Amino acid sequence: MAQQLADRMNVLGTESAFEVLAKAKALEAQGKKIIHLEIGEPDFDTPEHVRQTAIDAINAGHTHYVPAPGIPLLREAVVEFLDRFDRLETTPDRVIITPGAKPIMFLAIMLLAGPGDEIVYPDPGFPMYESLTKFAGATPVPYPLREENDFRVDPEELKALITPRTKLLIVNTPHNPCGAALTKEDCEAIAEIAIANDIIVLSDEVYWALTYGDNEHHSVLEIPEMHDRTILLDGWSKTFAMTGWRLGYGVFPEWMVEPATRLVINTVSCTSAFSQHAAAAALTGPWNEVEAMKKEFDARRQLIVDGLNDIPGISCVDPGGAFYVFPNIKETGVDSKALMNHFMENAGVACLWGSAFGAQGEGYLRFSYANSQENIIAALDAMKATIGEVSK
Ligand SMILES: Cc1ncc(COP(=O)(O)O)c(C=O)c1O
Repeated sequence: MAQQLADRMNVLGTESAFEVLAKAKALEAQGKKIIHLEIGEPDFDTPEHVRQTAIDAINAGHTHYVPAPGIPLLREAVVEFLDRFDRLETTPDRVIITPGAKPIMFLAIMLLAGPGDEIVYPDPGFPMYESLTKFAGATPVPYPLREENDFRVDPEELKALITPRTKLLIVNTPHNPCGAALTKEDCEAIAEIAIANDIIVLSDEVYWALTYGDNEHHSVLEIPEMHDRTILLDGWSKTFAMTGWRLGYGVFPEWMVEPATRLVINTVSCTSAFSQHAAAAALTGPWNEVEAMKKEFDARRQLIVDGLNDIPGISCVDPGGAFYVFPNIKETGVDSKALMNHFMENAGVACLWGSAFGAQGEGYLRFSYANSQENIIAALDAMKATIGEVSK
C-alpha cells in the first residue's frame, strides 16, 4: 500500500497502563483471575447528586454545542472552587474546560514549544509529557526524581537543566507514579527558578485533593508572581471518581486563552454540554464523599506500604499523595518489566513496570491502590508467595 503515516507518528508514545490492561484481559479471557493494581482510577462511584444533575441536564435539553472554552456556569464554578480551597484567585475568562485533564497538557505543549525548544519534565513521570513534547517537535529534558529525596524535585538538579531554550517546566504534585507530594519550600524553590529564567510552568494538580498524614497539597501558585506564568491543570477524574466522564480544566495566563481556545475549536469544538452541568454540581456540592474516598485510600496506602515492605527484595517509601506506591525492587535482581510479567503470570497481579515512566523508573514497580482492601491483601499474599520463584 502506498499510503503512509506522517513522520510525526513515529515519536508519539502511549500509556503502558493500557498495554498491561490488554494483557490482563487476555489472561482473564483464558479463565485466570487477575487483581488489577495497574489502573489509575478511583474504584468508587461518581457521587449521586452529580449523576442526577447530568440526567436532569439531558432532559432539560443541554445536548447541543456550547462555547468552546466552556459554559459560563462552569467556568465561574471553577473560580469559586479554587477560591473555596484557597488554591488560587482567578477569573472565569482564564478557565478552559476540556474533555478530561489530559487535553490541557496537549494545549500547553502545542502552544509553547516547537523544534529547537526544550520542555523540562519529571522522570519518572506521566508518559504523555515526553510523548507530546516529541510530537510537538520539541526536545524533552527529563529531571530526575530520586528515592533518596522521597521522589521530590531537587531544585539544584532542576536548575542545571534549564537553558535559554527551555519553554516549559512541568511539575506534578501529588505525583504519578511516585506518590510524592511537594512541600511549600519545594514549590518556592521551583517558582524561583521559573521566575529567574522567565519560564512558564505547567502545574499538573489532578491529585491535589489526595494527600495523607502530615502532607498538605502545595503548588507554585501559592507564589503570587507565578499567577501569570503558570498553567494550572486539574479535573474531575480523580477528585470526584469521574474518569469516564472526560472532564478537565486549565487556568491559563491571559495571553494564552485565545490561542488555547483556537486549538480547542480545531480539535474537539467543546466539551459535552450536560457533563459540564454535572461538573458544576460536583464543584459546588458537598465534600463529604471526597473525604470518605480519601480516608479509604489512606487505609489502603498503609496496608500496601506495609505489605510490600514485607516481601523479600522489595522496599517501599511512604507516599504522601495520589493513590500510587512506587516500590524499589532492585534487590530482586530482575528488571522491572520481568518482575511485572512474573507477578501477572504467577501471582495474578497486574501492575506497571517503572521504566514505563522514564529511564529513572527502572528498578521500581508502580501499584495503584485504587482497589478494595480485600483485593490488596490477596495481591500482597500472592506476590509474597511467588517472589521466591522469580528467575534471574
Ligand atoms: C499526572 C496525571 N495528569 C493528568 C491525568 C489525566 O487525567 P484525565 O483522566 O482527567 O484526563 C492523569 C491520569 O491518569 C495523571 O495521572
